[in-house]
Order: sequence, then C-alpha cells, then structure tokens
Amino acid sequence: MENQPETTVRRHRRIIMFPLPFQGHINPMFQLANLLYSKGFSITILHTNFNAPKISNYPHFTFKSILDNDPEKRRFLLADFAQDFIHTQDHADALRHELKLLLASEKDEPVSCLITDALWHFTQSVADSLNLPRLVLRTTSVHSTIVYSSIPLLHARGYFTLDDSHSEEQVVEFPLLKVKDVKKIGIKSTKDLYAELIGNMVKQTKASSGIIWNSFKELEETELDRVPDDFPVPRFLILFPKYFKASSSSLQEQDQTIFPWLDQQPTKSVVYVSFGSLSQVEEKEFLEIAHGLVYSKQPFLWVVRMGFVKNSTWLESLPEGFPGERGRVVEWAPQHEVLAHEATGVFWTHSGWNSTMESICEGVPMICSSFWGDQPLDARYMSDVSRVGVYLENGLQREDIASVIRRILVDEEGEEIRERAQVLKQKADESVMKGGASSESVETLVDYISSL
Ligand code: UDX
Repeated sequence: MENQPETTVRRHRRIIMFPLPFQGHINPMFQLANLLYSKGFSITILHTNFNAPKISNYPHFTFKSILDNDPEKRRFLLADFAQDFIHTQDHADALRHELKLLLASEKDEPVSCLITDALWHFTQSVADSLNLPRLVLRTTSVHSTIVYSSIPLLHARGYFTLDDSHSEEQVVEFPLLKVKDVKKIGIKSTKDLYAELIGNMVKQTKASSGIIWNSFKELEETELDRVPDDFPVPRFLILFPKYFKASSSSLQEQDQTIFPWLDQQPTKSVVYVSFGSLSQVEEKEFLEIAHGLVYSKQPFLWVVRMGFVKNSTWLESLPEGFPGERGRVVEWAPQHEVLAHEATGVFWTHSGWNSTMESICEGVPMICSSFWGDQPLDARYMSDVSRVGVYLENGLQREDIASVIRRILVDEEGEEIRERAQVLKQKADESVMKGGASSESVETLVDYISSL
C-alpha cells in the first residue's frame, strides 16, 4: 500500500494521539495515525522533546510538544523511564492543560477521542476528567497483554523468584511458556517500579474505551478468546505494516547504501540481524554474535546501534578484518525494505513486536533471541505456536548461532519453516484485503471513533 495517505478527503473530526517517545512505540502510533488520516480524520500528535518525531515527514498532521518543554527538566531519559511513570501528577496537569486548549479550539474540527500508548496510564484519569474517550494502543501482542495482566497471579505463585533449576519447567497457568520465559520479563517483585508500571497500565487499559493491537486475528485468534472479560470491548487488531511502513517515523537516519550490496547477494541467502532500538549486549556476547555470523558462512547485514555494546561506543571490540567480504555492519537500516528485499533469507531478531510483525508481513522466517519485557513471550510464540522461527533460548554462543542460521537457510529441515513463513504472509495479505479480518477491524474502528 501507499506510504503517504491521500489528502483530499474533507475532514470532520479530529483525533489527538500521544505516543510514548521510544522507537518501538512511535512507529506503530504513526502507522495508526496515517491510517486514520487516510480514513478522513484530522490528526494532532502530542509529543515530548525527548525523541521528538520528525515533523517535516508529516505535513498533514498538527504537532504539539508537551511535558518536557523545560530544558532543565529532561524527564524522559531512558534511565529514569520507570521512575518517571510513577510520578505522574505534574504530567497529568500538563496534559490536562493542553487538552483543554485543544478541546476549546474553534478553528479545529471537534475532537473525537484521545489515543495514547498503553504505558501512558495516567492519561486515563485526565481524559475522564474532560469527558474525552481514550483508546489505548498496545504495541505488543494480544498474547503478551494477557500474560502481563496475570503478573500479580504469576507473582503470587512464586514464578519470578524460582531459582534456575526450574527454568525449563512449564508455567501451569500458561502452558506455552517455560519458567525462564516468565522470569525474563524482568519483574523482581510486585513492588518494583516496573511491576507497578505494568499494573497501572493494565488497570487503566481496562478503564479505557478500547484497545488497538498491531496484530491480526488469523495470528492470534486463540489468544483473542482468552482476553479476560474485564478488558474493555471493543478490541481492534490491525496489521499496521501492511498499511504503512514504519520508515517515515524512524528517529535515526536509515543507511540506504546497503541496497547495491544486497542486490548482489543470492536470493534468500542473507541473514539480517537487528536487535531493535533499546536492547544491549555485553562485549562477550557481541563477539559471540560476530563469530557466529562468520562461522555460518552466509552473507549477513548486521545493525549495530551506537551504544548497543555495554561500555563501548560502537564497533571497537570487533576483531580486525571483521566483517570481511561476506558481511555489512550498519548503524541503522531501513528495516522494512531490507525484509522485503529478495536477498533476505532470515531475520535474526530480538523479538520486539514491531520487528516480528514486519517479518511476518514479508514472509521472512526468524531466529528469535530475547532480552526482556514482551520479547521472550513473542519469541516463544513465534517458535512454538506460529512455528515461523527458531528460538535461540539458551544465550548467545557462536556454534549455536552458526548452526541455527544454516538450519534455516541451507538445511532441508529449514524448508518447512520457510514454507510456514510464506503461508503466514499469505494470511497477512488476505487479512488486509476487503472482507479480511484486519480490513474489517479498520472499518469497525473508524465507525466506532465516528460514533464517539
Ligand atoms: C520495544 C519492544 O521490544 C517491543 O516489543 C515493544 O512492542 C515496543 O518497544 P524495540 O525493542 O525497539 O521496541 O523493538 P521493535 O518493537 O522491534 O521496534 C523497532 C522498530 O525499529 C521497528 O519498527 C523497526 O523497523 C525499526 N528499526 C529497527 C529500523 O527502522 N531500523 C533498524 O535498523 C532497526
């Protein structure tokens, strides 16, 4: 589909959208914004100065910077992330102030609703105080939303504090998951800031006027049936990457020089490696990745962000001569376009949900690693339910890495995974066609917002 929404529709209603200022949250919010704009809504984006969006890419939206306008108070630094969300009263006051102005504006269309990232939980009480319906964008899967809503239960059953001897055991309440998957979410106790943040997010999502997921029914039908009754209806599953690519909301310059190199590689031979916008590795792990890629004897394109390796700036710990002729290392890639390139054979991902959905949309099988949060849940789902990936679940060792790459790309065994990835892509394609589940969800969402 087109990456720029058409601009000729007469607009009657406005939607105010408030993304969380991190790449994996900004991308789906802007995909949703473009989609709603293409359906005739005007869009106002509220944003922080920290990780501010590239406004020039969106001449059709209105932007308003809020919350961290005081340069002395850089509230949204990653290190303060969880801490920041807990102390939200001044954020709430600032948001209420801006929303009041927007709601009173006579030059703009009437406002239908506010759509915020689920993690901006404090926005629910602000919206309530202004009688403004708030919808939630949850940037993860339905599956992980359900697991996150059960964190108090999982904690009460003691899963987060089990020692490593229980790692491979099944989680009784979620038989798909192993104890180590649940532990890797990163909760230590229900009293830690992260648990408090998730608890508030779940509570205020339940209080909202609806949830939107970047997903599709054909992928998560079983999970949809398991969403607890106390989550608000209606629910919308929309396959964002099939409507708009995430490239236009990239915060970093995407290296376009890779395409002549990619064009020269054999079809479906390249390992594309990217671990998203936030994950980090130790230097030892970094070197295992590097050696594993070389050992695989396959061409590779590896995204290494500045700061990806703890205590390093960029590539300084790599051995001399790396990556050699077979590989390319870049700081940031046009990911969706790389996944869509015919040379790309497998995506070694950290199992961030946007990356996972982008890979599915292009029919690219995955090697799934995971670091924290929803990633272990996504990795397990891709490997054991959708079966379009192999979960590299026991850390990063060069021999395992090389072996799993060859297993997917070269060995006969990989044929089934490659085929399943193509079948899932076909389902994704059908979902966004007229009459498909994603397409119907878009129409229902538009009708719903119009009715508010
Ligand atoms: C995090 C979580 O991991 C994710 O599960 C959650 O839903 C959102 O927050 P992140 O770790 O950054 O996000 O991963 P991911 O969700 O995969 O998002 C990364 C985005 O950056 C993707 O849209 C991807 O296309 C883009 N990207 C990544 C690039 O444009 N270029 C790159 O080189 C790498």
